[in-house]
Amino acid sequence: MSRTPLVAGNWKMNKTVPESIVLAGEIARGIGASAHNPEVVLLPPFTSLWAVSTAIGDSPIGLGAQDIYWERAGAFTGEVSPAMVSGWCRYALIGHSERRALFGENEESVNRKLHAAVREGLRPIVAVGETLAERDGGHMIEVLSRQVPGGIYGLDEHAALELVVAYEPVWAIGTGRTATPEQAEKACALIRGLVGETLGSAVAEAVRILYGGSVNAGNAATLMALPSIDGALVGGASLVATDFLAIVAAAARPVA
Ligand code: PGA
Repeated sequence: MSRTPLVAGNWKMNKTVPESIVLAGEIARGIGASAHNPEVVLLPPFTSLWAVSTAIGDSPIGLGAQDIYWERAGAFTGEVSPAMVSGWCRYALIGHSERRALFGENEESVNRKLHAAVREGLRPIVAVGETLAERDGGHMIEVLSRQVPGGIYGLDEHAALELVVAYEPVWAIGTGRTATPEQAEKACALIRGLVGETLGSAVAEAVRILYGGSVNAGNAATLMALPSIDGALVGGASLVATDFLAIVAAAARPVA
């Protein structure tokens, strides 16, 4: 099966609304009207989502939220529900390592958010990855074996076919230290196996697995050529249109 590569730009807590409009416009002009290979998704902060949806107009770029809460509505000050972004957002990023490390997220909250996203028609991008201490301690396999099934269990097959998993080793995020191709390939192949054990082999075959962690215009082509990697989750380099567009170009695959 051929999986359409996906490149997602995670803007994190960057860009005011006017700045977001400028950046999204630059990216949309660079992508043009016909670029379905790879699929491109922007994940701006909540405050900029609506403005970015307008700025990208009818370009093929998709939008996603950087996080969502699992309740649909109610007394949850500061939270944003999937129902508030579904319809005009295609994706929700769930379980980014910054959410896990700084905001106490774990497999249980990731799984609740995943099901809430799917209920509202959003496709989840579930981020997983080990810290440097976990890798150095020889626990990478153990960590992924906990985070992947713990985050994704219980999805029905229809929703599971649209799942995206992002392997983001925490030690590579924002550090300029990318995983080697061997490290990235090994972890992503492991993740595909774990998806298969949890949701079945048809799902494992269909799920797109992204690599994230200091992806840039210089290293993207090597990483994107790896057999288990179907795209990139890009942080810092997604804030500069020319860099992000170069990564998108590196992820393109010949149409079969
Ligand atoms: P980075 O971030 O590309 O700046 O390393 C990736 C991410 O956190 O998604």
